[in-house]
Parts: sequence; C-alpha cells; structure tokens
Amino acid sequence: MNRPTLIILKTAVWIACLWPIGLLVYGAFTPNGLGPDPTARIEFSTGYTTLMLLTIGLGITPVRRLSPHLNWMIKFRRLVGLFAFFYGTVHMLAYVALYAGFSVQTMLDDIAKRKFITMGVATWLLLVPLALTSTNWAIRKLGGKRWNLLHKLVYIAVICGVIHYWWQVKPGVILPLPFTIAVAILLLARPIQTALLKRKAKAAASGRQVVQRPG
Ligand code: HEM
Repeated sequence: MNRPTLIILKTAVWIACLWPIGLLVYGAFTPNGLGPDPTARIEFSTGYTTLMLLTIGLGITPVRRLSPHLNWMIKFRRLVGLFAFFYGTVHMLAYVALYAGFSVQTMLDDIAKRKFITMGVATWLLLVPLALTSTNWAIRKLGGKRWNLLHKLVYIAVICGVIHYWWQVKPGVILPLPFTIAVAILLLARPIQTALLKRKAKAAASGRQVVQRPG
C-alpha cells in the first residue's frame, strides 16, 4: 500500500474511533444534547463502543487472512485495541462518577450484588494488562511468545464483555445477540483458518515430494 492511501486510511480510522466520544462531548455542550437521561446515554454509548471496537479488533486477523491484499489491516489492530481500552475506561469512570457518585461502599455493594457490574469490572481488568503491554518496548521486554500468550486474554475479555451486556439488558431483550453471533464466528474462524492453512501447507509439501521423486 502506498503512503498517501495509508495516511487516508489512518485518518479515517482515527475519525471513526473518535466519533462516538465526539458526539458525547458535542451533546454535553448542547441543550438537551444527551437526551432525557444523559447518564444512561453516556454509559450506553461508551459500553457499546468498547464492545464494538473489541469485536472489530478480534476480526482483524481472520479477515486479513482471507486475502494478501488485506495485510494492511494489521497496522490498525493496536490502534483499535487502544481505543477499546479508552472507551472502556471512560465507561468505567462514568459509572464511578455518575452511577456510584464516587462512593466506594456503593461500588463494593454493586460488585458484590449485581453480577453484571462484577462482569463489567472483570472485563475492564482484563483489558488493563493488554493496554499496558501494547508498546513496542513491552513486546521486546516480554518476548513475542509471552506477549502473544498474554494477549490471548482479549478472547476472554470480549466473551466477558458480551456476558456483561446480556446480564445488563432486561429479560427478553436480544440486543446483545448480534455481538454474540459475531464474536462466536470470529472466535471459531481462527482455529478453522489455522487448520485449513496447515492442511494446505501439508498438501503443498507432499505435492513437492511427488514432483521431486525420480521416475
Ligand atoms: C468497571 C467496569 C464496568 C462497569 C462498572 C460497567 C457498568 C455498566 C453500567 C452501569 C451499564 C449501564 C446499565 C444500565 O444503566 O442499565 C453498562 C452497560 C454496558 N456496558 Fe459496561 N461496565 C463496565 C465495563 C464494561 C466493558 C469493559 C465493556 C465492553 C467490553 C462494557 C460493555 C457494556 C455494554 C455493551 C453496555 C450496554 C450498552 C447499551 O445498552 O447500548 N462494560 N455497563
């Protein structure tokens, strides 16, 4: 990919990632801009965006593997992941400030009694080490193998995020279903693609052996 195209793509990704927070900031400074329940609006928007970005991040590798023309996508995985953490942190802080009113007792009670809050906290905590080790320095320090192993936490985090969403909606509401299906497909896509690639490599190797075997 040439440099100008990459710059355009990078700008588009930054704008797309900043869009939800931009809307919230704009709404906050506009009369009735956040609707009748600003607290819920902020919490829903940031929670939804976190899960959306985590799901997109999860999809980058399987989609990229579909064609060598999509290799450029990998350049955006870290950015999307860091934005997911950013929105997750705004979401968590909005809960601390707007729902719990900075009361440690309220937060502890919520974590103990409301399982969707417990799951939200667990999800956010799983994202912390991923964000902290997202730098090139951390990759070098940990070594590729250990870094890859640690970053497998993202699979658990996204599953916890989906569960948090299910536990948060009222019974009968199926809004988290599209995320559930997307995450399930993306999680299954990886081992299936790896198995197919291995089979292809094996077939190619045995094909070479047949060609090389004399008369
Ligand atoms: C400390 C961590 C977290 C806390 C305390 C928390 C708390 C909350 C609360 C209070 C709500 C709104 C519930 C309501 O008003 O009915 C909510 C909604 C939501 N949260 Fe979290 N959450 C946390 C982390 C996360 C993370 C990391 C994700 C993403 C993976 C996430 C995704 C969502 C989603 C998708 C919704 C629903 C949004 C919608 O309905 O559009 N949350 N969360």
